[in-house]
Amino acid sequence: MLMPNLVAILALLAVGRTPTPEEIRAWDISVAPDGAGLPEGSGTAAAGKEIYANRCARCHGAKGEGRDSVPVAGGQGTLKSPKPLRTVGSYWPYATTIFDYVSRAMPFDKPGTLSHDQVYAVTAYVLYLNGIVAEDAMIDARSLPKVQMPNRNGFVPDPRPDVGRTRGSGSARKAR
Ligand code: HEC
Repeated sequence: MLMPNLVAILALLAVGRTPTPEEIRAWDISVAPDGAGLPEGSGTAAAGKEIYANRCARCHGAKGEGRDSVPVAGGQGTLKSPKPLRTVGSYWPYATTIFDYVSRAMPFDKPGTLSHDQVYAVTAYVLYLNGIVAEDAMIDARSLPKVQMPNRNGFVPDPRPDVGRTRGSGSARKAR
């Protein structure tokens, strides 16, 4: 009597299964600086204006000046000043990171609710707010990696001996 029940219970407890290819695609959202991993889709700042107003401005301000949250625009030219303002526009070296970040984490209170086209469009809009792309520039997997960020060359290798000279080189460990 006990055995069939036990088997049924074990079957119930056997949670988990192999994910489907669709599920893996939905989770596999990483975008590299060179644009590898960017999905199909596209958008312009003009298209992103309304999405930004509805889904982002509440926290980041109408012009990206940061209201209840961090600014996403401005600060260019302040990094060497006593009061550096680090934003996507003044600090981030790669435009592709904006897509990656927004698609996985924004809107802060409802991440994952924007379509790829919508993420491309708000990415374009954030770039537009920073004066980096034109309002009608088509942003997609091919054009986004080519967007030159103002601080692209503002990073230098960390000179401390215990830090790798190039990213992923593993030289820190080899040096010991
Ligand atoms: C409910 C408030 C809220 C909303 C809505 C929201 N954000 Fe954010 N956002 C945040 C917060 C808080 C952070 C900082 C998170 C952190 O540092 O961990 C952030 C960070 C960011 C950053 C990184 C800024 C930086 O320099 O680190 C970007 C880019 C961004 N948001 C874009 C967007 C976009 C685009 C939208 C609309 C699709 C959006 N956010 C909607 C609250 C919000």
